[in-house]
Amino acid sequence: MSIEQLAETAQAMVAAGKGIIAIDESTGTIKKRFDSVNVESTEENRRAYREMLLTTPKLGEYISGAILFDETLRQSTKDGVPFTKIMNDAGIIPGIKVDKGTHPLAGFPDEVVTEGLDGLRARLEEYYKLGARFAKWRAVIRIGEDIPTGTCIDANAHALARYAALCQEQGLVPMVEPEILLDGDHDIDTCYEVTEVVLRTLFSALYEHNVMLEGTILKVSMVLPGKDAEEQASIEEVAAATLHCLKASVPATLPGIVFLSGGQSDEDATAHLDAMNRMGEKPWPLSFSYGRAMQSAALKIWAEDMTGNVAKAQETVYARARENGLAALGEWSK
Ligand code: 13P
Repeated sequence: MSIEQLAETAQAMVAAGKGIIAIDESTGTIKKRFDSVNVESTEENRRAYREMLLTTPKLGEYISGAILFDETLRQSTKDGVPFTKIMNDAGIIPGIKVDKGTHPLAGFPDEVVTEGLDGLRARLEEYYKLGARFAKWRAVIRIGEDIPTGTCIDANAHALARYAALCQEQGLVPMVEPEILLDGDHDIDTCYEVTEVVLRTLFSALYEHNVMLEGTILKVSMVLPGKDAEEQASIEEVAAATLHCLKASVPATLPGIVFLSGGQSDEDATAHLDAMNRMGEKPWPLSFSYGRAMQSAALKIWAEDMTGNVAKAQETVYARARENGLAALGEWSK
């Protein structure tokens, strides 16, 4: 796979006014989401729900790619059309979550490291054959008393770099995702400092592992105060802090940056992205790769009537895609 092909895919993922829908919840996470709306997490219900999302009419107007879970990449519509064909026909690039989740980091209470490197080369080879063209790996960093430690940041950056190098070897664009969790009562300055050191460490590890940034996408959390912090920040403060932090730590050769929503309200996730895109010149496109902020409203509607409400739920998916697509251009209005 040439760097030109990887770069072309990466650029298409962050095409102007488009972003990514993250529907890569693992079996455990989708069960939690389904439990919240009283839907049983059977394979057929998961398939039907993802079919509703992926067959949303005109979704490709605002969505460039979708991140799937292993099970979903292999599934089809009820009429037998593979989801990957539905996506390619709609101009939506298939992506795949390839990490195997977080596990306690031995010797470091309350910290986690993401696993999944063993056997990854063979899995990536298969995912490419199944149609995936980008792959996501999520590292999780918690802020708390005396954490994150340098060891935790290094361990996660190292794993991200090894996964990213393997992806490029196998022809997939790595979407490297260090998520700094919103949990806690820390202030916005603490989140800024942690995000900066995590990103600097990550890009240093990518460099050491010969990862080509031109064929890489960064997916990251915004710089926010902890959700239990006494003092919350305005939309403008979050946008300015996030943009400054990214400019200080992300090389300009990267084709684009997308954000996760991480438990923000739908409106905040859109407003923050929009505000950043109104703040003048930046070295890379800034867009979205939201999971909850793209799906939560539609999930509720669909759950009320899983067959009868498909079109209504899809209208909500399209509306959220449109709002976030406009925010990616700095053209959203409430
Ligand atoms: P949220 O937008 O719900 O945080 O999910 C995005 C994601 O893919 C997290 O890994």
